[in-house]
Amino acid sequence: MVKLYINEKKKKGRIHPEIYGHFSEHLGRCIYEGLYVKEDSGIPNQNGMRSDVVGALKELRIPVLRWPGGCFADEYHWKDGIGPKENRKKMINTHWGGVLEDNSFGTHEFFELCRQLGCKTYINGNVGSGTVQEMSEWVEYMTFEGVSPMADLRRKNGHEEPWKVDYFGVGNENWGCGGNMTPEYYGNLYRRYQTYIRRYGNGEPIKKICGGPNVDDVNWTKKVLETCYASPCPGNAHGFMEGLSLHYYVHPGGWDDKGSATDFDEEAWYCTMGKALYMEELIGMHGAVLDQYDPGKEIGLIVDEWGTWYNVEPGTNPGFLYQQNTIRDALVAALHLNIFNKHCDRVKMACIAQMVNVLQSVILTEGEKMVLTPTYHVFHMFREHQGAELVESAVIGDGWITREGFDGPAIQESVSLKEDGSLLVTVANLSASDSYPVEIVFAEKKPRPGEVTGRILTGEIHAHNTFEEPDKVKEVAFEGIAATKEGISFTIPAHSVASLHIR
Ligand code: AHR
Repeated sequence: MVKLYINEKKKKGRIHPEIYGHFSEHLGRCIYEGLYVKEDSGIPNQNGMRSDVVGALKELRIPVLRWPGGCFADEYHWKDGIGPKENRKKMINTHWGGVLEDNSFGTHEFFELCRQLGCKTYINGNVGSGTVQEMSEWVEYMTFEGVSPMADLRRKNGHEEPWKVDYFGVGNENWGCGGNMTPEYYGNLYRRYQTYIRRYGNGEPIKKICGGPNVDDVNWTKKVLETCYASPCPGNAHGFMEGLSLHYYVHPGGWDDKGSATDFDEEAWYCTMGKALYMEELIGMHGAVLDQYDPGKEIGLIVDEWGTWYNVEPGTNPGFLYQQNTIRDALVAALHLNIFNKHCDRVKMACIAQMVNVLQSVILTEGEKMVLTPTYHVFHMFREHQGAELVESAVIGDGWITREGFDGPAIQESVSLKEDGSLLVTVANLSASDSYPVEIVFAEKKPRPGEVTGRILTGEIHAHNTFEEPDKVKEVAFEGIAATKEGISFTIPAHSVASLHIR
């Protein structure tokens, strides 16, 4: 028996809705085809945005969307993507697949997409190959309401009112594709570039995200903070930054052969789970460095790229990073989201990579067809954690797994309390073979029958949705939840994700 203790009286902080954020890059078929098909497409669309995809994403209550990259961001020159589309520069996306980039999706289209999704905006600027002037003019173009060359240009291009930029990333992976910089050099550039991310008018200031480490590169975190952290002062409440990014991808193989998305054995399953669990350690190690500078936890750790990264589907462009998505990905997603929830004191945003057709997507498209992946269903089952209060929970008892690549508890959970007093419990069973009886014991709550409803997502470990069989993996009602003396009990099947709403 696994005992899941929930102390619903002990609140541990608000789960930032942005933890459920997404990332969309000019990469493969994420933007073009996946999200944007142009106004004259035969695929139903609103102002060029696919109606089926936007409709499905709205169900997830997307809180924030990061764009235009990724590595693409440090090669992107925003002026190429404004003005009449027929005049926009055509170029080759040399970083991703060597295909034509016609810049038909640019700043105006991004804000239109976010308007349709009803989400916050996260723009990633170009430090690697762009100038301070270019970055500062982009901010002026997007957010200045008065008379100025850039605000006038925006008006000329058809948008009278300024937009709201919620977050601005100063470069991307500047230790690698964003310029191969040393942390000290980047830290100094960060100080300079961020100065010109101005706050125009009386609106909320744009939250600035400093480029953080790759995986476990604690030295980067240390040196960057040493170089560019400034103590908060009046008028500059969080010093120079509101967030520091962290990127981490899970691939069961090595960098050159990452393993197949759909064809894997139990060993690869546990290796994947072990690598996903490593996210917790990463948050701990970078969080410890951040604590030295920012003990009040004002600066968010912004995990703005996370997820699985496998070999591309056979026969597809290697630069498009198109991969299928199985029950294994659902477990990876549930594990990450539970970890982020439990570290919501420091993790203030996370963006899964990427939204559609690239890496661990929530949606795949092929022509006019669309499928929701198992990862989509996890985001759907977890969506009500957004903005709720994390409460204390712990798992004890059976279910410790020791396998090559994985040493940890099979059952992983997080629990939040909503304003209406109800609880959302999300539980993942990472075992590839064993189901577990679970009893939830509450501090005070004694749910009566009818006050608990559940959903479950499970299937054979390789199960996935295809365009021929789009509903093979989907969430269904979770039956068999019984009342006990101290709480409730159920059996969680092997390799499954469950969500329980308790009124
Ligand atoms: O998400 C794919 C790529 O992974 C991004 O462009 C880059 O930031 C990271 O290395």
